[in-house]
Amino acid sequence: MTLSSINSVLFVCLGNICRSPSAHAVFRHKSEAAGLDLKIDSAGTAAYHQGAKPDGRSQKVGESRGYNFSGISARKVVQSDFENFDIILAMDDSNFSDLISACPEHHHHKIRLMTEFSQAYADQSEVPDPYYGGAAGFEFVLDLIEDASDGLLNQIKK
Ligand code: 4NP
Repeated sequence: MTLSSINSVLFVCLGNICRSPSAHAVFRHKSEAAGLDLKIDSAGTAAYHQGAKPDGRSQKVGESRGYNFSGISARKVVQSDFENFDIILAMDDSNFSDLISACPEHHHHKIRLMTEFSQAYADQSEVPDPYYGGAAGFEFVLDLIEDASDGLLNQIKK
């Protein structure tokens, strides 16, 4: 798929309260700053936190770096997402395989790993789940997301 023609991006993690809402907020900010008009959303493979605001630890790190989480609340991935988004970015291998299992085969090509777009962190294969860890994990998640968001934007702008 050539990314220069995409109009919509869905970020996916497990709970949709830490990693994917952070990617949503970061990529929304960066794409708007680049003058792009993209549909951006995030969702979880699980519904544990349906309707919840992003985790306070993710918001604290994100807001300290200038990102805005307004309007973002957790929801589960639904079948229409596979139709309605041009690219669906999984944060880790488990999210990726859960998405592939749920997605009709003709849309499998839309599902990619966020870290495919890493630049400075090209040695990292996943954005790791920070939920049960400490503050450093949340900072690292933001580092990876900022880096991969820049990589994704560079490909979309080509
Ligand atoms: P996320 O993190 O997938 O980055 O939103 C998690 C949030 C909640 C849980 C696990 C991971 N949980 O087990 O409730």
